[in-house]
Amino acid sequence: MTPQALEKVFLCDSGSISVEVALKMALQYWHAVGSPRAKFLTLRHGYHGDSFAAMSVTDPDNSMHKLYKGFLPEHIFADSPECGFFDEWVEEDISDFASKLGDNADQIAAVILEPIVQGAGGMRLYHPTFLKRVRELCDEFGVLLICDEIATGFGRTGKLFACEHAGITPDILCLGKALTGGYMTMAATLTTEHVANTVCGGEAGCFMHGPTFMGNPLASAVANASLSLLQQTPWQEKVAAIEANFAEILPPLKQLDCVKSVRWLGAIGVVETHTPVDVEKIQRHFVERGVWIRPFGKLVYVMPPYDISTAQLKQLVEAIESGLKSVM
Ligand SMILES: Cc1ncc(COP(=O)(O)O)c(C=O)c1O
Repeated sequence: MTPQALEKVFLCDSGSISVEVALKMALQYWHAVGSPRAKFLTLRHGYHGDSFAAMSVTDPDNSMHKLYKGFLPEHIFADSPECGFFDEWVEEDISDFASKLGDNADQIAAVILEPIVQGAGGMRLYHPTFLKRVRELCDEFGVLLICDEIATGFGRTGKLFACEHAGITPDILCLGKALTGGYMTMAATLTTEHVANTVCGGEAGCFMHGPTFMGNPLASAVANASLSLLQQTPWQEKVAAIEANFAEILPPLKQLDCVKSVRWLGAIGVVETHTPVDVEKIQRHFVERGVWIRPFGKLVYVMPPYDISTAQLKQLVEAIESGLKSVM
């Protein structure tokens, strides 16, 4: 199902661990090549998980960096893209990333980012050309590219993998969440034969990670069942229908004074408010309306299952509208 070049798969316990594994792969790769590198370049507003290395490449202002300062490794952050997915591309959008990569290329083991959708760090839907440029620049400067598709993988953005919007393949890909449909914890880190062979040809002789529950048989069975289900259902049509519904039912929410913007892509719908939402109050409202939505900060968003009906989707968006009206 995944891009052809990514032939090697390492199964992990959770999304955060899949990111740890991706970072370790990149570090071991450069060690094996004989020129160790220890920095990662990433984007502001990113989210990659709650374990230490994953946190270190997550947005520094919007997360827990301050709490762990001194312990957390410090990496390089480029401005996040401003050009939205449906906007016209402006070349300037890549300039900060390009200069940070150019200035530090010999120290950077890999670039890590969420392709097309920056999730928990801001629900930002960005332009495919940004991602294309990132791939070109990584090739130009000889830096590995890690794409974290833990949230976007398996159809969420309308393509099976968000990288397809830009027609690129990363050197390392992180998958999780929908891999098991949320029923068991399991994630995966995929890479190319070149990266895998280089890592295994290094001093250690293998990739140095081996947790107890790696490749857990029950989780693997659940993943196989979930992926079969996805392949047997017309998920493209379902995600396209959700996207079409969002296009109809989200824009009217812009009329609320508290709403700054609404946006959507595939089966992701986002309402951003001007000021943070009172989560406790609005969640009570949601539960009374028979829906479960977990907002954070200024973001109220939904990523529903692909088999949600139009009526159910409307129920979610109506609950957001009435919830915002009653608490903001
Ligand atoms: C893009 C992205 N990366 C990593 C993670 C971390 O995954 P997990 O919560 O399974 O550790 C998440 C979880 O929300 C995510 O959205």
